[in-house]
Amino acid sequence: AKVAILISGRGSNMQSLVAAADGAYEVVVVASDRPEAPGLAWALERGIPVFALSPKTVGKPAYEAALDGALREAGAEWIALAGYMRLLSDDFVARWRGRIVNIHPSLLPRYKGLDTHARAIAAGDAIAGASVHVVTEELDGGEVIAQAEVPVLPDDDAATLAARVLEAEHRLYPQALKEFVRR
Ligand code: GRF
Repeated sequence: AKVAILISGRGSNMQSLVAAADGAYEVVVVASDRPEAPGLAWALERGIPVFALSPKTVGKPAYEAALDGALREAGAEWIALAGYMRLLSDDFVARWRGRIVNIHPSLLPRYKGLDTHARAIAAGDAIAGASVHVVTEELDGGEVIAQAEVPVLPDDDAATLAARVLEAEHRLYPQALKEFVRR
């Protein structure tokens, strides 16, 4: 299965997906809405084709049209969002219906959106985690296909909890993607 990874930042989940690629999937392109995203340089150094364009320069419709074209040109059949911090339009989601997954740092349906770790701590949760879900038009709202749990420790702040969840993400996402592309 040919997979495109979309990032906006450091790309640690992208790295774990690339490291775990095998017969189940291959990463054919890494794309970003932020040309300065550190993860892009990492992908380039490894010879993975990259696409980068800022929606601010051309507007969202032209940006998404170019993104769609770049992914199809690379032969991508599936899209894995990995720290992609921008909402995909309803049109884009419709064109890739059922073929986009995302990893979100909470146990969905709890804590959609941002600041998940601070919210979990503020709520007094004993367990936190991450979810891999199908992307639909509703933010963080599509079918959950895999989750990983970690404990919330008494001294945790958002940063220490985020680091523990991120380690779990790196194990969870490759496995979940392999299951997803068998659909
Ligand atoms: C991860 O916590 C992911 O769950 C969230 O954004 C973060 C991205 O980190 N969507 P990275 O860029 O993969 O290191």
